[in-house]
Order: sequence, then structure tokens, then C-alpha cells
Amino acid sequence: MIKFPVLIINMKNYLEASGERGVAMAKAAERVAKDFGVNIVVAPPTPILYSVASSVSIPVYAQHVDLSKAGSTTGFISPEYVKSFGVCGSIINHSEHQLPINRVKQTIELLKSFSMDSVVCAVDPRKTKVFAKMNPDAVAVEPPELIGSGIAVSKARPEVITDSVNAVKSVGSTSKLICGAGIVSGEDVRRALELGAEGVLVASGIVKASNPEEKIKEMAREIKRFL
Ligand code: G3P
Repeated sequence: MIKFPVLIINMKNYLEASGERGVAMAKAAERVAKDFGVNIVVAPPTPILYSVASSVSIPVYAQHVDLSKAGSTTGFISPEYVKSFGVCGSIINHSEHQLPINRVKQTIELLKSFSMDSVVCAVDPRKTKVFAKMNPDAVAVEPPELIGSGIAVSKARPEVITDSVNAVKSVGSTSKLICGAGIVSGEDVRRALELGAEGVLVASGIVKASNPEEKIKEMAREIKRFL
């Protein structure tokens, strides 16, 4: 079960997280999570999910799952199948992998049926409200134009976070609101949490950093303040 405040590291399909490098990055995240006593989740590229899940004890998420059973479902990512080797949740509807709204709901339900976590991405506060009604564990609001930009949502679009926090509250959702897009520093993380987010979703700021472990530490230090 996901704990908050949380730092979720989405490795996407960056070559910096390819194969053994992705496993090493996940191990670095695990070291920081233990040393700092903070909640860190890693979402490695799909082809290394098993290697990562069998190498670390921090939570490992898929970046996407399909509405597929284990068994004769060639090429699909089955929640039940990835759970069998320790994956405990999934990102759903990332802005780079958007789904029809009813499929988001069905995916949350399928994950719940296997006691797996769901973090649903929303592009704005309006979509945040739609998804919060489905009560995933978290909704992650990420303005697409800031993704990978190095310009943090918490600095450039603070109202996206505060409006999304209010959107979640307004529908009486059990979901927590987290945010992402352009987060590259500890200060960006701190601002997000000060604005009411209960975690951050970070990709390039960590994966493409010259020293990912140091960057994870910099962000974890700020998460720790809000424990
Ligand atoms: O899933 C997180 C992501 O979309 C944010 O990307 O590179 O701006 O941290 P980035």
C-alpha cells in the first residue's frame, strides 16, 4: 500500500535506465529510501520490471498495465502476471500513454482486485476531478507542456496544484493528490508539498541527472521534512 508523502521515479524508456542501469538506479533509490526513511516508489521500463522487482525491497510499479488476464494474452501487460513477481501497483493514463476514461476506471478496479496500487495521471485540475471520483490511491496532475522541460509545475503553474488539491477535496475522494512535470530540484519538490501535494512524480530530473543518486537524495531530503 502506497505511503505518503512519496517520491515516485518514472524511468520512462530513457536509455539511461536501460537494462542493468535501470536496476542500478532502482537500487540507488532503495538506498536513499532506507537512509532517509522516506517513501520512494520506482516505475522502471516494462522490459526490466522483473529484474528491478527482484532486486529491491521498495515498491515497484508498472508504468502502464492492460485490462488483461494472466495466460493467453500475448504482448499485453497483465496486472496479475506482474504482481506474481512483486510489482505492487501501476501508473495509469500517463499523458504519454492516455486511455479512454472508462478504461481508466476499469484498470483501477482490476488493480484493486489484486490489492495493487493505482496512480492515475491527469493533465489538468478538471481531469483530476474526473479521476478523483474513481478513488485511485493517487491522482498525479502533470501539465503536459512542462513534462521534460526542467521548468517545475510547482514554480511555473502553482495554481494547477492548488486547484487540483481542491478538486480532489470537492468530490470527497479518498485519493491523494500528487504532481509532476519539470521537477528537477529539491526546491521544486518542497514547493509542491507546500502547495498541498502529497508527493511528486519525477522522470528526467532524476533519470538524466549526472548523478541520479545525489539527485534522489536532494529530493528525498525535502520529502522528509513533510513526514
Ligand atoms: O511521469 C513523470 C513525468 O511525466 C514528468 O516528467 O521529465 O518532467 O520529470 P519529467
